[in-house]
Amino acid sequence: MKIPESLLQKYNVATPRYTSYPPANYFHEEFKAEKNKAALIKSNQSHPKNISFYLHIPFCGKLCHYCGCNTHISKDNLLIKSYVETLKKEILLYKNLLDSSRKISQIHWGGGTPNYLPIEEVEGIMAMFFEHFEFIQNPEIAMECHPAHLTFDYVDRLVKSGINRMSLGVQDFESNVMNAVNRDESIIPIEELIRYIKTKGDISVNLDFVYGLPFQTPENFNSTINKAVAANPDRLAIFSYAHVPWLKKSQNKLEKYDLPDAEQKIALFEMAFKVLTEKGYVAIGLDHFAKPEDELSIALNAKSLHRNFQGYCTRDTTGQVYALGVSGISQLDNAYLQNTKDLKVYKKAIDAGELPVEKVYFVNEEEKIVREVINELMCNNYLSFPKIASKYNIEIEELKSILTFEEDIIKEFEKEGLLIYKDNIVEIKDEGQFFMRNIAASFDPKMKSNEKSFSKAL
Ligand SMILES: C[S@@+](CC[C@H](N)C(=O)[O-])C[C@H]1O[C@@H](n2cnc3c(N)ncnc32)[C@H](O)[C@@H]1O
Ligand code: SF4
Repeated sequence: MKIPESLLQKYNVATPRYTSYPPANYFHEEFKAEKNKAALIKSNQSHPKNISFYLHIPFCGKLCHYCGCNTHISKDNLLIKSYVETLKKEILLYKNLLDSSRKISQIHWGGGTPNYLPIEEVEGIMAMFFEHFEFIQNPEIAMECHPAHLTFDYVDRLVKSGINRMSLGVQDFESNVMNAVNRDESIIPIEELIRYIKTKGDISVNLDFVYGLPFQTPENFNSTINKAVAANPDRLAIFSYAHVPWLKKSQNKLEKYDLPDAEQKIALFEMAFKVLTEKGYVAIGLDHFAKPEDELSIALNAKSLHRNFQGYCTRDTTGQVYALGVSGISQLDNAYLQNTKDLKVYKKAIDAGELPVEKVYFVNEEEKIVREVINELMCNNYLSFPKIASKYNIEIEELKSILTFEEDIIKEFEKEGLLIYKDNIVEIKDEGQFFMRNIAASFDPKMKSNEKSFSKAL
């Protein structure tokens, strides 16, 4: 599959990643503690009934220069310990706000680098969840891990404390790429690490890669992806490097390199896509790949995949997400609540028994519909106007009007070979996967006013 240069030029424009709808840069500051708390309590009545927690551990030992995450580089053990104490208080705060009959279906540890925490701290936090909440059978408990901090003993204790999914940030296997971005490599070879993790039980392993970094070429990235396949992970995420130096100053350090341009980036992704699909992985959404027997692949087939800030998930396991820790974003049916990014402000709020929320967005009924439409396209490569209209009990024409739908735009995507539009159903073709963000954006009424900045689509 070769994507024509003309389409790359045309669609490489600023476009949201749609990890939420509306995107996070629509969230606004609002310090109305009572209103935020009320939104949270109200979520006890909305579906799904299961709950998920996201825990943000901002700490890392060293800053990777491409990093777009909310991090805090620190070797200060006291600061880290105090953060964990605050996080534990926040868990108790939620225990008091949430309906105790709701069960946890998912916990996601993200960062920063959660496995930068001393393992006793992870064990202590997990023990608190098991003590204070009920869980469904087989909940998903996932941790994003930096392999440079992962030892066999750490893996043993993670598994014992309940972690059953590990995502390892590899990024690239080439040392010159890693040096250029200021990143340490794994202490245990990844293949050996995965083999070891698999001896611990039914633990799912994902590997993260980023393309668009200095010194990456189709040849050496091909070798990286083949090495990844040989390590036999259950899933892989192949992220397009999001270059946003106006938000992340350290990314300026990469500008001295000849960074791959849009065409070169697509060549890297096309190659990865080809290798992974030929080796039997199923392409999931924008940038994920999973073995055919993985539940993400099964959910894609059943058109029941969805997405949140933590990645792709299946409807069976994901509840509304309550976020703990600095910068975490709670994702409720009717609202997004984002915690402060400031460690001191966070601690002060929690010590006072208040939610550390700094930014919010209250989602109205029309935005919920747009959110569902964008989710369908981004996750299931598919949109049925009749299905969505019937779910929300509206006419198809009303749905189209909410989306400010313009048939000409869809027809143009169709002419370019990116999708099929027939009988009020949109199906994104393989060729359209690369342009999924652009296709989704054409259903987003907010993009018509185009007032926010986003990273480029490709
Ligand atoms: C929180 S990190 C994962 C855990 C750990 N901190 C690590 O780096 O291994 C989340 C992932 O986001 C991806 N990432 C970070 N910055 C990015 C950027 N600017 N563009 C695209 N992906 C990025 C990386 O693949 C990284 O593994
Ligand atoms: S990529 Fe991971 S380890 Fe590197 S700075 Fe970002 S969060 Fe920390």
